[in-house]
Amino acid sequence: MRISILNPLTYLGLVLAVCSCATPSANTPTLKDAYKDQFLVGVAISRTVAANTAGEVNRVNRTKEQVESDVALVRQQFNQVTAENDMKWELIHPRPGPDGYDFAGADAFVEFGLKNNMYLVGHTLVWHAQTPAWVFAGTDASRASREELLERMREHIHTVVGRYKGKVKVWDVVNEAIADGGTNILRRSPWLEIIGPDFIARAFQFAHEADPDAILRYNDYGLENPAKRRKLIALIKSLQEQGVPVHAIGSQAHVNAGTTFETMDRALTEMATLGLPIHITELDLNVSTRGQRSTGADVSDNASVTGGGLVDDALKRQAEAYAGLFRAFLKHRATVKMVTLWGVNDAVSWRADGRPLLFDGDNRPKPAFEAVINVASEASRKM
Ligand code: XIL
Repeated sequence: MRISILNPLTYLGLVLAVCSCATPSANTPTLKDAYKDQFLVGVAISRTVAANTAGEVNRVNRTKEQVESDVALVRQQFNQVTAENDMKWELIHPRPGPDGYDFAGADAFVEFGLKNNMYLVGHTLVWHAQTPAWVFAGTDASRASREELLERMREHIHTVVGRYKGKVKVWDVVNEAIADGGTNILRRSPWLEIIGPDFIARAFQFAHEADPDAILRYNDYGLENPAKRRKLIALIKSLQEQGVPVHAIGSQAHVNAGTTFETMDRALTEMATLGLPIHITELDLNVSTRGQRSTGADVSDNASVTGGGLVDDALKRQAEAYAGLFRAFLKHRATVKMVTLWGVNDAVSWRADGRPLLFDGDNRPKPAFEAVINVASEASRKM
């Protein structure tokens, strides 16, 4: 878009666009309040927020002042928190042996959540990524045996879940075990290769032993894709038939602006047939293809005008897409019990290039924030 003459309508558009970027006033509802009768609204936090210290988050350095602002925003907007990294095996259990654990980050996360009356989610116990190589190495051979690896898994789950029993209410027990392509349900991973397909059932059983009251979640991405969703449904049905304690579906929802209300509605309708609560666990919505794989739907052709204070097309499309997703979550509010954003703001996001969150790097609400709040107000007027 090129503006050569400022006619009155264009001028009005400019003013509206600029106003929609202002920090929310005291009487703008917060995310957690807007959805309080429907579902929890959460956020993934890094150690800088949990411990309130300056430091690096996803390769970006946050100053003391920025972290203080991040902390204030988290406390203002969200009633649920997930540890973005600090409970992953490589951080909480970096080495073998009796001194192999490092609870500093996870303890800070739990303390932060409890102090702020937030619902705590633990992420994640068994995953193929961010797991140190020693976990899969054998004591006597190059690879661990099935028994060795099962015993390591049992010990890890009992220690971690046991330590936060009664405090962390939900655990992502198994993360991303489903294969993206092909006909195999399960991805090739050391867990599958060494233990076999029952590694999933065993992980859930160990977590249930460690905290019988915890809600145990299976978490994966790409469940908006019908083929991957069919695999999820087959996997969970088979676990249910075996009596495995799986209590909720975690759908990560790392999506882009091409993900519509209809896409999400269909995904939630089909997943709801499993009869389990659904948690949207890692929501973010990319609008730029800079540094990303091309998705076809994302074009930031108008980004050049953002410097002038205009709401560029990408941010508008993002707001519309976020609104569609939240309309779908509300339609399925009997099933959707939690919606977690994967990061506090665009600056600290793991997909920072896609500007995928509701707040910009200075914690100013983006058009997407206002769209999400408006969806809640629209719905409450109808109810
Ligand atoms: C990401 C974190 O956000 C990054 O900081 C880290 O470097 C890599 O992992 N699926 C998951 C999350 O389940 O744990 C991942 O988090 C994003 C994809």
